[in-house]
Amino acid sequence: MLTAAQQQDYQRDGYLILPDFKSPAEIAALRERAAQIVDAFDPSAPAGIFSTREQQHNSDAWFLGSDNSIRCFFEEEAFDAQGHLKQDKSLSINKIGHAMHDLDPVFRAFSADARLAAVARELGLREAQVWQSMYIFKQPGIGGEVRWHQDATYFDTDPVSVTTFWFALEDATVDNGCMWAEPGGHRSPMRERFTRHGNAVALEKLDGTPWPDDSTAVPLACKAGSLVCFHGLLPHYSAPNRSAVSRHAYTLHATDAHTAYSPANWIQRDAALPVRGFL
Ligand code: FE2
Repeated sequence: MLTAAQQQDYQRDGYLILPDFKSPAEIAALRERAAQIVDAFDPSAPAGIFSTREQQHNSDAWFLGSDNSIRCFFEEEAFDAQGHLKQDKSLSINKIGHAMHDLDPVFRAFSADARLAAVARELGLREAQVWQSMYIFKQPGIGGEVRWHQDATYFDTDPVSVTTFWFALEDATVDNGCMWAEPGGHRSPMRERFTRHGNAVALEKLDGTPWPDDSTAVPLACKAGSLVCFHGLLPHYSAPNRSAVSRHAYTLHATDAHTAYSPANWIQRDAALPVRGFL
């Protein structure tokens, strides 16, 4: 799937953009299914989040329970001071996560792709295991910022292997909150580790290397249909979306089965729902 030059670019920069990887029909099917999931979502289900002093606890429980299920999450700016949605539910959801690739047939069809398996192999994953899927809406006007981070923080393996497959479902531009990354930043150390023990989560500081800024980061603007692959140690960030158009994207996170997957990672699988590859 990849030329020698593309593989060299990935090694040098820590990311690679592959335009026209997914067809308009594949994108339309995924977008339609995501809209159905949001439509079926009852916003009162996690309502405790906004109504009681149990806020943080309920919010954490809703998140942790999404590890091997399909749940919707609101944009932080979706609610007014009284706790009511400021706009229609369909324009209020931040993301859907985190197991659609295994539990939903339409998402599975999009994610189980022989070309994706080939790309993963060529990027160095001997045996890919796909732990997580996210559908990210980056809603017009209120699409939230995602602070600088490395995805290895959330998928710790020894050695580092997590690789992100990020699909642009709409054009991603500087205006609507495209990702930014620091070319070559994947050679910097892992700064943080997110751990889970039962229902207790923690973000451990591992290294004091500062995050990149505008002087070294570049926008990963790309057209709908593009696949952006990036290394688990690549620092990346996305700005709030203050534009009038959304910036839908879909991501998959895969590690190599020939590495040691930390038992403290927040997503674990068992025999009831074993982790699978791209096929
Ligand atoms: Fe990320």
